[in-house]
Amino acid sequence: MNKLIAGNWKMNGSLAANEALLTALAAGLAAPARAEVAVCVPAPYLAQVAALKARLPALATLELGAQDVSSQASGAYTGEVSAAMLKDFGARFAIVGHSERRQYHGESDALVADKAKQALAHGITPIVCVGETLAEREAGQTVEVVKRQLAAVIHANGHCISEIVVAYEPVWAIGTGKTATPEQAQEVHAVLRAQLKAATPQADRVKILYGGSMNAGNAATLLAQPDIDGGLIGGASLKAPDFLSIIAAAAR
Ligand code: PGA
Repeated sequence: MNKLIAGNWKMNGSLAANEALLTALAAGLAAPARAEVAVCVPAPYLAQVAALKARLPALATLELGAQDVSSQASGAYTGEVSAAMLKDFGARFAIVGHSERRQYHGESDALVADKAKQALAHGITPIVCVGETLAEREAGQTVEVVKRQLAAVIHANGHCISEIVVAYEPVWAIGTGKTATPEQAQEVHAVLRAQLKAATPQADRVKILYGGSMNAGNAATLLAQPDIDGGLIGGASLKAPDFLSIIAAAAR
């Protein structure tokens, strides 16, 4: 299975900065990579990135993603963006349940599960984020927390569960420069894989990404773990050389 490297730009970028970043990425992506690559961009920039993809042949295989999606199909939900709208602009992925949304926007496990369901119903692959806080890790609750978060999505999505991507992102490692050790990450990934196996005979095709301060220096050892199938990259995805190094580590 090819690894997936997905950039999460978060609330960063501008028309000019995005064009500079993608032009630099195009130069480095010219050779066909043995890894799948995506960028999850702020919704207003989906059209710009789609247009740049059309213009720069080296970006042809770059997949487009969003950072969130509404749990509702359409209607009176001011400020929300539906899965159908994301699909209109060529989104192949949508991150759901990122810890920043759980933390700052009060997103519950049930809401995240509904968002995943909306994405799947529109042919968008949800990248379902799970992860424990530092307090939860220190209290020995890591496994319980990530299993509870994933269970809600499994419960709501039944046999479609083999179509999702999971991202294990320990909250204490996001944007902090503190990375889970490859062993710590693998331990949780193995738990998530076992949980998926209990839910679907096709669990082996579900990609489980690691996220949280993955960078050019630590990507190779993390990606060498048996159940780490790629990365969800925040800060390092905003710097073309760093993102390209991570992609190269994944394509080995
Ligand atoms: P980071 O973010 O790579 O900057 O730690 C990862 C994420 O939040 O998806």
